[in-house]
Amino acid sequence: MLIRKAVIPAAGFGTRFLPFTKSVPKELAVLVDKPVIQYVVEEAAACGITDILMIVSSGKEAIARHFNPDFELESRLESSGKAELLRQLREISSLARIHYVYQHELDGLGGALRCAEEFIGDEPFAVLLGDTVCSGTRPVLAELLEVFQATASSVVALERVPEEKVSRYGVVGGSAAEGLKSNALKLDELVEKPEKENAPSNLAIASRYVFTPGIFGALSAVGRGKNNEVQLTDAMKLLLKSEAMYGVEIEGKRHDIGDKLSFLCNTVEFALKRPEFRDDLIKFLKGKLENC
Ligand code: UTP
Repeated sequence: MLIRKAVIPAAGFGTRFLPFTKSVPKELAVLVDKPVIQYVVEEAAACGITDILMIVSSGKEAIARHFNPDFELESRLESSGKAELLRQLREISSLARIHYVYQHELDGLGGALRCAEEFIGDEPFAVLLGDTVCSGTRPVLAELLEVFQATASSVVALERVPEEKVSRYGVVGGSAAEGLKSNALKLDELVEKPEKENAPSNLAIASRYVFTPGIFGALSAVGRGKNNEVQLTDAMKLLLKSEAMYGVEIEGKRHDIGDKLSFLCNTVEFALKRPEFRDDLIKFLKGKLENC
């Protein structure tokens, strides 16, 4: 079964990135010249997603403005002969059909997903966190969709993290999955923020998911958990009791821009990938480092 719908949660407060996020959604933070959430939508579109539901909150209307066409600006670019910019702009609004729903109470990632139930209905769907870009030779979501096609079960992206950092993540346990690539696991355990000693592995859940609609029943059953929020991991744990679930250790890399330092590091990393900036940026950075 082909998956055509995706949900992008983008309603959060972004407290780790204050004061910037007081009036600007962190999902619009820019990596070189593109907002983070545009990279996310591009990843979804590259994987055949045609309809995206963005979960937003009051004050985050600029996200919709970024994806809606701006005919006045387009005609200005057209009349001034800026054809390449015009092409880029038109491409943004043609990536996918984007729909919006407000999460009125910010009760966590699980709460955000509950807002998508009506839009998704009774079919499997993808989830891509709006503040995390994935890079690599192949879109991470494509790796997950491949496992979904083979198993018809929920699939989560996994990233290996240093053992001393497992307590920051949702961590999985599992075993090799028969008939699937060696980077896929059949999951038998999910633990939110475990101590290093109790962690089933150092494979952390990494911001891309494919869910069967069974996740909605699990989300309503678990209700609010830690921090009085609906915890997605709690719902996934419950779903794992009744349905198989798989994980895929991603080949690409995850870039979370939700905190200030990782945003800064990712900005440099993405700029270094751009041929038009690379040499001058290296010169600049070397100059700075000499004085450190
Ligand atoms: P985070 O876990 O980074 O939470 O959300 P946050 O609230 O945005 O940021 P901090 O921790 O306060 O700094 C991961 C993604 O899930 C969305 C966020 O917008 C982000 O894209 N999210 C989070 C929601 O849509 N709703 C929520 O209630 C929480």
